[in-house]
Amino acid sequence: MTRYLVAGAGGMLGADLLAVLDGRDVTALSRAALDITDPAAVRDAVAGHDVVINAAAYTKVDDAESDEDAAFAVNATGAGHLADAAAAAGARLVQVSTDYVFRGDATEPYAEDTPRDPLGAYGRTKAAGEELVLAHPDVYLVRTAWLYGEHGPNFARTMLRLAGSNPTVSVVTDQVGQPTWSRDLAASIVRLLDAEAPFGVYHGTNSGSASWFEFAQAIFAEAGLDPARVLPTDSAAFVRPAPRPSYSVLGHAAWESAGIAAPRPWRDALREAVTSGAVAAA
Ligand SMILES: NC(=O)c1ccc[n+]([C@@H]2O[C@H](COP(=O)([O-])OP(=O)(O)OC[C@H]3O[C@@H](n4cnc5c(N)ncnc54)[C@H](OP(=O)(O)O)[C@@H]3O)[C@@H](O)[C@H]2O)c1
Repeated sequence: MTRYLVAGAGGMLGADLLAVLDGRDVTALSRAALDITDPAAVRDAVAGHDVVINAAAYTKVDDAESDEDAAFAVNATGAGHLADAAAAAGARLVQVSTDYVFRGDATEPYAEDTPRDPLGAYGRTKAAGEELVLAHPDVYLVRTAWLYGEHGPNFARTMLRLAGSNPTVSVVTDQVGQPTWSRDLAASIVRLLDAEAPFGVYHGTNSGSASWFEFAQAIFAEAGLDPARVLPTDSAAFVRPAPRPSYSVLGHAAWESAGIAAPRPWRDALREAVTSGAVAAA
C-alpha cells in the first residue's frame, strides 16, 4: 500500500488533501509536528514514505515583502529539504507553487515552461523553491492560484461575510486570474499520482478566467445574493505592500499531454463549493 506524507497538513490545501486521501495510508504533519526548515526532522519524517506532498508554505504575500528571509526559509530552503529527503527515500514528491512566479502581465495563458520572472518577494521565494525541487527527477510541480476553500481565510469566505454586514462591496476589475477550489486542487494532485503521470510541471488551477470582480459577483450569485451588490473598482483603490499581477492565467496543456482531464471550469467548482456548504461566511 502506498504510504503518503502530507507536510503542512494544517493549512487550507493540506486539510483538503487529507479529505481526498481518506482511507489511504497517510501521515499528516502540521507545522507543530514537522517544521520543514529543519533538515534532520524532514529526513526522519520522510523516511518510509512513497509519496511526499508539500502543502507547507509561507503564504503571507504582503508580509513577505518585509520578511523575505523567513519566506525563503520555508518556500525555498524548506521545499529543498523535502525534495532532498524524498529523493533519498526513493519517494515521489509533489511541490505546490504559484502563479506569482510569473510577472503577471501576460495577455494569454502562461505555458508550463514559461521562464520564471517573479514580481515580488513571495514569488521570488516560491521560484527559488521550484528550482531546488526540480533539481530532482521524481517531482510533480503543481502551480496554483486564487485558492479558496473550507479550511482557511480566503476571498470567497470573506465575500460571504461582507455580504452579511455590508449593503455593497467594491472589488477590483483589473486583476484577472483563475479562482480555484482547494478541494479540486487536492483531487487534481491525487489524480496525477494515481495515474502515474509523467513527472514535471502542471498547472493546478480551475479552468477559465475571471477578474476578482467577476469572481465576487459569481460568489454572490451562487449564494443566492444579488450580484449587483458587488461594485467595480480598480487596483488604485487597494494599494498593498506586494504588487499584484494584472493577468496571471495558467495554461493547462500538460494535463492534455499526460492524457488526464484538466481541472474543471472555475464556475462549476464554485457552484459545488458554495451549494455543498464547503465554503461559507468567515
Ligand atoms: N492561497 C492561495 O491563494 C495560493 C495561491 C497560489 C499558490 N498557493 C500555494 O498553495 C500551497 C497551499 O497554500 P494554502 O493556501 O493551503 O496555505 P495555508 O493555508 O497558509 O497553509 C500553509 C501551511 O503551511 C504551514 N507552514 C508554514 N511554515 C511552515 C514550516 N516551516 N513548516 C511546516 N509547515 C509550515 C502553515 O502553518 P501556520 O499557519 O502555522 O504558519 C500552514 O498550515 C502553498 O504552496 C502556497 O504557496 C496558494
